[in-house]
Amino acid sequence: MVSLTADMSPLHPDRNLALELVRATEAAAIRSVPFIGRGDKLAADGAAVDAMRAFLTTVAFDGVIVIGEGEKDDAPMLFNGEHVGTGRGPQADIAVDPIDGTTLTAEGRNNALSVLAVADRGAMLDASSVFYMDKLVTGPAGVGVVDIRLPIGENIRLLAKALGKPVDTLVVSVLNRPRHADLIEQIREAGAGTRLMSDGDVAGGINAARHNARTDMCVGIGGSPEGIVTACAIKALGGHIQGRLWPRDDDEKQRGIDAGLKLDDFVYEADDLVKGKNSIFVATGVTNGELVAGVRREGDYVYTESVVLRGSSGTLRRISSEHLASKWY
Ligand code: FBP
Repeated sequence: MVSLTADMSPLHPDRNLALELVRATEAAAIRSVPFIGRGDKLAADGAAVDAMRAFLTTVAFDGVIVIGEGEKDDAPMLFNGEHVGTGRGPQADIAVDPIDGTTLTAEGRNNALSVLAVADRGAMLDASSVFYMDKLVTGPAGVGVVDIRLPIGENIRLLAKALGKPVDTLVVSVLNRPRHADLIEQIREAGAGTRLMSDGDVAGGINAARHNARTDMCVGIGGSPEGIVTACAIKALGGHIQGRLWPRDDDEKQRGIDAGLKLDDFVYEADDLVKGKNSIFVATGVTNGELVAGVRREGDYVYTESVVLRGSSGTLRRISSEHLASKWY
């Protein structure tokens, strides 16, 4: 197996790879523009998937989709197990979320991202047989401090102490869902504020882990694939992430067990979600958000903003690009 960091030369493959991958999320974001605010989330997602796949075929790596659009029969492209890339270069696991926030995109609301994450082959947990995961994400201050097994009020107090901030200045983001009614009440009872997200807990997790962000912690049940993708970013940010699979019924639980997953409140730590340090996370804004600006078409140009996070170096790079609109539409 060729490690993503095996070559320490100036042409280090994962540095090049990281920049190559941005082309795929940029393409997905650009192609979704005609669908922003048009009420058709499947059409938006379809355009983003097609664009991302077209670019991924040109990337110099031997990639296997571990987290994709679903099983082959339902998902014509970017399905779990599909090989992408030129077949030459590092062997890698890939997680794709061509649009995290398809409803946000269709409704023209903030915080939709096009996302791609890559790690060494065999590094990503394939949690696709269980749809939901309970997650706890913070920045570096929470490492070794908070724990998903503790009551939320306790985690808030511990994090506030570690951050040196009064509890009532802490803000916790959580998806606004009926399943979180108790959780939201407990956060408020503990004295912290809430930021309720209508969708998009990948951006929510990353925003909670960044320094100087407006949120301090992201908690609650969201998609399992989103949990793996988020873990790739959180590792590069030096933050804390834990996940517990949350099957909706006994059948789903059994499918998880059959797939070798650990249930019954087993806690997956960051290294269980994505092994090692060689993860790369890239995201391009589809609609405006705290992390990146959304794609914008103005005159003859389309503007995109992206971030690239590399686990091995702990860097977050921001890439602004101008694209000739005539090449795209
Ligand atoms: P999609 O873009 O696939 O619709 O996902 C959006 C999202 O909000 C994720 O960010 C989140 O993890 C998941 O959906 C939550 O699922 P649900 O909407 O079923 O609560």
